[in-house]
Amino acid sequence: MRFKIYRYDPDKDKKPYLKDYDIDVSNFRMLLDALIHIKSTDDSLSLRRSCREGVCGSDAMNINGKNGLACITKIEDLKEPVVLRPLPGLPVIRDLVVAMSQFFKQFHSVKPYLNSSTPAPDRERIQTPEDRSKLDGLYECILCACCSTSCPSFWWNPDKFVGPAGLLQAYRFLSDSRDDSTSNRLDELEDPFRLFRCHSIMNCVDVCPKGLNPTKAIGGIKELLLKRNS
Ligand code: SF4
Ligand code: SF4
Ligand code: FES
Repeated sequence: MRFKIYRYDPDKDKKPYLKDYDIDVSNFRMLLDALIHIKSTDDSLSLRRSCREGVCGSDAMNINGKNGLACITKIEDLKEPVVLRPLPGLPVIRDLVVAMSQFFKQFHSVKPYLNSSTPAPDRERIQTPEDRSKLDGLYECILCACCSTSCPSFWWNPDKFVGPAGLLQAYRFLSDSRDDSTSNRLDELEDPFRLFRCHSIMNCVDVCPKGLNPTKAIGGIKELLLKRNS
């Protein structure tokens, strides 16, 4: 199978280029297996990976034009040649490795942790099963950045628009019965850029490897704002 892999070493290369690798993939099931094999034949290739089972989010990349995780992408589902590029819109450190600082900066800006003004109980803060179920579909994010780096609004304003991953987390804590900072959270999101740059294009939903729906979460935040302001 032919792979065309984005290569760029800023210390050596004037500009990025695609390098061809032809390998026998008959013993490999997942794209990451093939990539690890390619790296064993050319150790100058840089990529991130860790868990190899869709949990750590580190091997996100652009696979034949669509963001995804190499470790859960089946080779049999790929069209040839397989073109692999780094996640779009983030600075490339080298080859398939991008700088994630801007992504995490936006993620941290929504204060993705429980905020409660009541004293901490002896054991845990409890929830009814019904309240707990409101977090389903919101807490499972693995921070792979596939969504935010497929979002045109994030490409154009990565410093101002929170992006789908951060907004999903914002809604996760707005939906948590134990968190009582809803009003502050909404104040911090009510901004033409931070929230309202989302134009519901839904690229984010299309690429999320965990099947999450940031667009719906963003709609939920907008609804909370409408209710509060009406
Ligand atoms: S729905 Fe919103 S957040 Fe998702 S890709 Fe489109 S503009 Fe970005
Ligand atoms: S919402 Fe999905 S695509 Fe976005 S960072 Fe989380 S797991 Fe990745
Ligand atoms: S290697 Fe961890 S998600 Fe793919």
